[in-house]
Amino acid sequence: MTTLQKYLSYIHKIVVEKTTSEFNPQLIVAIQNGKYVLNAQNANYSYASLHRVFQQALKKIDLENASSVLVLGCGAGSIPNIIYNELNLSPKMDAVEIDVKVIELGKKYFELDKYPNLNIVVGDALNFVKTTDAKYDLVLVDLFRGIDVPSEFLTQHFFEQLKSLLTTKGELLLNYVAYNYETKQRVVELKNELKGVFHNNVNVYQLEGINRVFHVRT
Ligand SMILES: C[S@@+](CC[C@H](N)C(=O)[O-])C[C@H]1O[C@@H](n2cnc3c(N)ncnc32)[C@H](O)[C@@H]1O
Repeated sequence: MTTLQKYLSYIHKIVVEKTTSEFNPQLIVAIQNGKYVLNAQNANYSYASLHRVFQQALKKIDLENASSVLVLGCGAGSIPNIIYNELNLSPKMDAVEIDVKVIELGKKYFELDKYPNLNIVVGDALNFVKTTDAKYDLVLVDLFRGIDVPSEFLTQHFFEQLKSLLTTKGELLLNYVAYNYETKQRVVELKNELKGVFHNNVNVYQLEGINRVFHVRT
């Protein structure tokens, strides 16, 4: 990033790379307010509003005592950046991402390859959850196609699989976007469905206007 680009980016967004992939019809790296961000069609994937959502949501978690973290939807790595660089913590982290192009952009612009405790898995989160034997103190679900969470990640079956990945003190955050009447109604249903699976308190945080983050403690 040149100094001129950095200063101009406070006036308007500067697109530095636009590409497409099998999973995301649009992937755009831009400079915004002096920082690289990754956007998809109609949504920020990493380092803008998504970053702020997890900065706030992670404050609700007992992170000091989390030694193993699973991120479903690695994106360009806002979550590892917050945990490792901003909070100076060093848990082991597995991050699953279906789109290799997203990972390439993450390495090229966002130093995604610079975290020694981060293990990136390129593959489908659904398959990972089904096949792994690992257990985690914290599971972060951040799976989107554009602004929508694919429906296979909003089922009782998937929530039960997530439950089986958590340690006894485990916590779960699931990010969702409620942008119209239907998705706002869905928030109410999802909260009840999560309560059914986890048999305890489920909190929902409204962040950045349209994001809803479900927080479950085992
Ligand atoms: C909002 S971004 C994730 C941002 C990321 N958590 C971060 O910290 O920067 C959503 C990501 O989910 C990925 N994704 C969508 N479906 C997926 C799937 N079935 N398995 C794994 N990743 C998936 C998308 O390619 C996209 O990179």
